[in-house]
Amino acid sequence: MLVLGIESSCDETAAAVVKDGKMLSNVIASQIKVHSKYGGVVPEIASRKHIEAINPVIEQALSDAGFGLKEIEGIAVTRGPGLIGSLLIGLATAKALAYALNIPLVGVNHLEGHITAVFLAEKVPEFPFAALVVSGGHTNIYLVKNYHDFQLIGQTRDDAAGEAFDKAAKLLNLGYPGGVVIDKIAKGGNPQAVAFPRAMKGSADFSFSGLKTSLLTMLKKRGRDFSAEELPDITASYQEAIVDVLVEKTMRAVQDNDIRQVVVCGGVAANGRLREKFADAAFKNKIDLFIPQVILCTDNAAMIAAIGEIMLTNGCRDSLDLNAISRWPLVAHS
Ligand code: KG4
Ligand code: ZN
Repeated sequence: MLVLGIESSCDETAAAVVKDGKMLSNVIASQIKVHSKYGGVVPEIASRKHIEAINPVIEQALSDAGFGLKEIEGIAVTRGPGLIGSLLIGLATAKALAYALNIPLVGVNHLEGHITAVFLAEKVPEFPFAALVVSGGHTNIYLVKNYHDFQLIGQTRDDAAGEAFDKAAKLLNLGYPGGVVIDKIAKGGNPQAVAFPRAMKGSADFSFSGLKTSLLTMLKKRGRDFSAEELPDITASYQEAIVDVLVEKTMRAVQDNDIRQVVVCGGVAANGRLREKFADAAFKNKIDLFIPQVILCTDNAAMIAAIGEIMLTNGCRDSLDLNAISRWPLVAHS
């Protein structure tokens, strides 16, 4: 089935075309430059930027895939979770297209999209698997028994891992979004230089707010005085603290549930050190690891089209009164 996917849950306007589980195009218009001067996403600005970008992004996705609008057989759109104003732009566009073209529409959960990104690769996992969804808003481990069968095993009690990266970058005046910058700077640093805390040992849940406070306390003690030469060591140690708990708790979930396959997805899965440490842990534990390519880890519409195609093929349909949901936990559905 030829499916157009639309994603606008945060600060990326994205459209993609997927057919029979294969990605034919993947276009992303990032708003990072606009929001970076405010140190984070400004929801009102994000909505307006989505309106400007959405039509050209869709046109580009169709042209890259080599198809016209009239050939599209179904539309998949992110319904939530995310910024309500941003979601509504994608949703309104998707509904208008579905109505004008008289084709089916399906609203999908963004987190389910992140997990499904892994099926756009050559080598794909088999069910059941454990999935760590690690992004700017979420840090959740699920037991995934089938495409729509999710069981939450662990989640963050406060900040998400991506948020921990972003907040640290703000404290260190490194700009927004923090994950990519810290990933780069940390490459030259010693991950053991600063002893940052690893919280909630022994629990399936995560907590990252203490880590951020510990960085803040360290900076305050020094009168916020640190040199550029120290940055690689500080960021590498901070990054290591995040990655260590992500790897440890995911591996424990894998063992506790007697699973042999693990999927790591979401924006933070783009992190170089995380990919390295997960690869080591998977090798040591004889577990198959699946992480989407970097461009499919951060927000994109190919993952939305991928899960949308599966849902549409299974007969899922949404009506034109479909509404956005800003907070929408991922639970098993039909
Ligand atoms: O999945 P995503 O694009 O959007 C959400 O659904 O939240 O994830 C965005 C998050 C941000 O917090 C960003 O700092 C983080 O992913 N991120 C990274 C990297 N690239 C993006 N974190 C660490 N290392 C990266 N390379
Ligand atoms: Zn996301």
